[in-house]
Amino acid sequence: MVIAVASDHGGFELKNKVREHLRKRGIKVVDLGTDSEESVDYPIYGKACAEAVASGKADLGVVCCGTGIGISIAANKVKGIRCGLCTSVEMAELTKKHNNANMIALGGRTTDPELAMKIVDKWLDTEFEGGRHQRRVDMLDEM
Ligand code: RB5
Repeated sequence: MVIAVASDHGGFELKNKVREHLRKRGIKVVDLGTDSEESVDYPIYGKACAEAVASGKADLGVVCCGTGIGISIAANKVKGIRCGLCTSVEMAELTKKHNNANMIALGGRTTDPELAMKIVDKWLDTEFEGGRHQRRVDMLDEM
């Protein structure tokens, strides 16, 4: 499994922590930047990560900005992407079970790193439920 990660400056520190956490889990990680705390535009990084997932270069993606909001909006504009903004472990579980989220977004300024790692783990360790949720996911993918 390959997971792509990306962030703007607001999510830079958290993105690096997520990258190292994933590597410790034995997962291959592709880091698409940003590479410093210098101010950059989150749509560029959300798009890059989403395109890596949509094209199959990565299986899943994690994006971070200050709140996770802007970068999740950017990622969700790419066809085939279902990026769930998660601020709790329950949201991480439900965005996999119900939305089959192939990306999650986290807020570097709003979510404690310890909680963020629990969110990442819950998302990775939860299975999509399928059934009625498959129909809804298909509807999303057709938009
Ligand atoms: C950057 O200052 C900030 O706007 C960005 O990281 C993010 O929070 C946008 O949604």
